[in-house]
Amino acid sequence: MTAWPSLPDHDPADRVESAIITRLALNWGHRAAVKKPEPDLDELFDREKLDYPNELLPFADHDRFLSLTDDQQNQLRAWAWIAFNKNVMDVEQYVVNPGFDLVAHDGLDTGLGSTFATAVHQAMVDEQYHTLMHLNASAVTRRQRGWAMPNQALPDVQTLRVQRTVTADAPDPRRRAISIFAFMTVAEVSISSYLDLISENDAIQSVNRATVRLHNRDEYCHSSIADEIAGAVYDTLGPDERRHFLDGLVDAMNAFSSNDYSTWHTIVDLMELEGGRAMIDDAEHDTRRSKLVQDFSGIHRLCTKLGVAEKMSFEWT
Ligand SMILES: [Fe+2]
Ligand SMILES: [Fe+2]
Repeated sequence: MTAWPSLPDHDPADRVESAIITRLALNWGHRAAVKKPEPDLDELFDREKLDYPNELLPFADHDRFLSLTDDQQNQLRAWAWIAFNKNVMDVEQYVVNPGFDLVAHDGLDTGLGSTFATAVHQAMVDEQYHTLMHLNASAVTRRQRGWAMPNQALPDVQTLRVQRTVTADAPDPRRRAISIFAFMTVAEVSISSYLDLISENDAIQSVNRATVRLHNRDEYCHSSIADEIAGAVYDTLGPDERRHFLDGLVDAMNAFSSNDYSTWHTIVDLMELEGGRAMIDDAEHDTRRSKLVQDFSGIHRLCTKLGVAEKMSFEWT
């Protein structure tokens, strides 16, 4: 067998290994964002560009929004970008890394080999770095626009609120761990489509697009890692545990796909925007509004591979 210089020695016990995980663990040093030089964000900042695309504002075609001054519209878009970054950071810190931490220590007794542990430790470093990238991206927006817009003023994001409720309701520590694992799986397999919302839009700030694009490169690999891990873990779960895991996937997809109106309510209150609450309420109750993230094709592929996609109470589109 070839000796891999940067990976641990072969584990003598019969542990689960994977060629995909081995390849990704080996090339991490060449591909990870954390290993690349940092761009000068202030230099890249273009004040003429939008901080956030109108198409992603759930009230973009509302009369009240259209009647606002340019400055008010700009403030709403800047807040939307700050909230987007906070969403990403909260998910990485409190949804993804706790799930990876479980895997890193084989907390579900799957029998994962040492290469899985290496890949997951690398991914956790990536997530920590992504958090810093999004922290910096919000900071440059505040600096360049001259608006305070503190993260602390915003509520916890919806995904995190739902994850906390679901894990708190779990009947025992093992099923609690399975819920944490399910939320991590959905986040890691689906976050790319959330990031694509920004990176594929020409009208918006190049700093924002560059941040998201760089982040997303890592996430394409994380999605393969999470998919492999989910398959390995699922194989070893009992029937009730499998059901619990699949329920967790559905809860997580529902949480991820929704526009977070509590954040919008907070933002219009902070801006003391006359008619703001009514505008957000109208958007929330507008049934033409599609969900923010609809692309769960990665989770659908995973569930098809596991032979359960049709048995889940989720409307795949
Ligand atoms: Fe990330
Ligand atoms: Fe990730």
